[in-house]
Amino acid sequence: ALVVRQRMKSSGRWARAVAIVKEFEEKCGTHEVKLKQVADAMTVEMHAGLASEGGSKLKMLISYVDNLPTGDEEGVFYALDLGGTNFRVLRVQLGGKTGGIVHQEFAEASIPPALMCGSSDDLFDYIAEKLAAFVDEEEQRFHQPADRQRELGFTFSFPVMQTSINTGTIIRWTKGFSIDDAVGQDVVSELTKALKRKGVEMRVAALVNDTIGTLAGGRYTNNDVAVAVILGTGTNAAYIERAQAIPKWHGPLPKSGEMVINMEWGNFRSSHLPLTEYDIALDAESLNPSEQIFEKITSGMYLGEILRRVLVRMAEEASFFGDDVPPKLKIPFVLRTPDMSAIHHDSSSDLRVVGAKLKDILEISNTSLKTRKVVIELCNIVATRGARLAAAGILGVLKKMGRDTPREGGGKTVIAMDGGLYEHYSEYRECLEKTLSELLGEETASSIVVEHSNDGSGIGAALLAASHSLYLDEKL
Ligand code: GLC
Repeated sequence: ALVVRQRMKSSGRWARAVAIVKEFEEKCGTHEVKLKQVADAMTVEMHAGLASEGGSKLKMLISYVDNLPTGDEEGVFYALDLGGTNFRVLRVQLGGKTGGIVHQEFAEASIPPALMCGSSDDLFDYIAEKLAAFVDEEEQRFHQPADRQRELGFTFSFPVMQTSINTGTIIRWTKGFSIDDAVGQDVVSELTKALKRKGVEMRVAALVNDTIGTLAGGRYTNNDVAVAVILGTGTNAAYIERAQAIPKWHGPLPKSGEMVINMEWGNFRSSHLPLTEYDIALDAESLNPSEQIFEKITSGMYLGEILRRVLVRMAEEASFFGDDVPPKLKIPFVLRTPDMSAIHHDSSSDLRVVGAKLKDILEISNTSLKTRKVVIELCNIVATRGARLAAAGILGVLKKMGRDTPREGGGKTVIAMDGGLYEHYSEYRECLEKTLSELLGEETASSIVVEHSNDGSGIGAALLAASHSLYLDEKL
């Protein structure tokens, strides 16, 4: 009788677990009709954000980049790329017309978590110090003391209200950064002050978002690049807009007639977005409640955390991992998206990677094959929703640009794509590309190319520093 009762108990638990998964899957639904509504809403918000400052949740920030790299850029330039858990410093030697990128070197460092929520001076001092060390090392190696002004392109991947190509104030932080005293400050002057404190002579010639850097970097090698999308810790997009289609721009009409726009699409929100109770709780408990909703269901910082929250519910209500809720599972953000990706990717017959991850990260041992399969199923639900929504976002941008139908003359539209999520999470990437083709239809899909622009954002910043340093010199 005891055995029978236990079996009934366990089948009841299992039924409850299955019900939770099923309900979650339904709430995450991204049927094609829904995706098209999301894309249309994105297009509408783009118009509103361009019409007036504060006209939409989409900030549609003016980048002051009205010319993209031509290939003529020449000389040695530095770049600094700050925007996620890591930051990089680069040195790029550009060879002019026929030379291309003659040489590049970079160094990478992680940002100590304490600095992400500390003071502005502490963060910028840390960055300046790393940059100083890198510059020293490079100049010694190349026996090339600075005989002229060192120029830097600064990729700063947070929302910034720019007032010129190399000035702009921080609007707010995203992606787990929260440095109150920096909000409203000019990013370039914060960096310049820190460089002075560390005794580094350098001019910040361009301040760019990572999407803008990626667009510039992509454009350097491919003239058809017109959109850039980042899918990494956060998510965002930039594209080339006609200056005349930007009512809120009151400056002089650029010669090119164009202006690159940083959409800050991570902050997109619409009643069409499929949000679940887990997303709502995640948002409420985040550092930036009710902001970056699109980012919170699409990007790398959050996917693993959404998965964790569903697992907690299953552990609590369906004893999914046995009688007790595994204590480790209760720690916010313990399940990182790279781990989720590894779990999702496991195709071994006994799903041993899933088993090992559950054991190593959550200290849950001896999971059954059935349990492991359900965990993979959850990864699939979370990643599929994110990837399909990202594809819908891209469709929205293409619609705004009038590129959602085949172009006359058969021209291509290239989307420069970067970010760890896109690069390393293959199920996510494949789902995104497949969904985009489905949404566009076969004929249009053949004119849209998604191109991985590996670390284009840093190189792009160096390229923009190159073209704008000349312009700054003229102005002086
Ligand atoms: C966040 C930032 C945005 C950046 C994106 C990708 O959404 O607000 O500026 O481009 O992450 O790094």
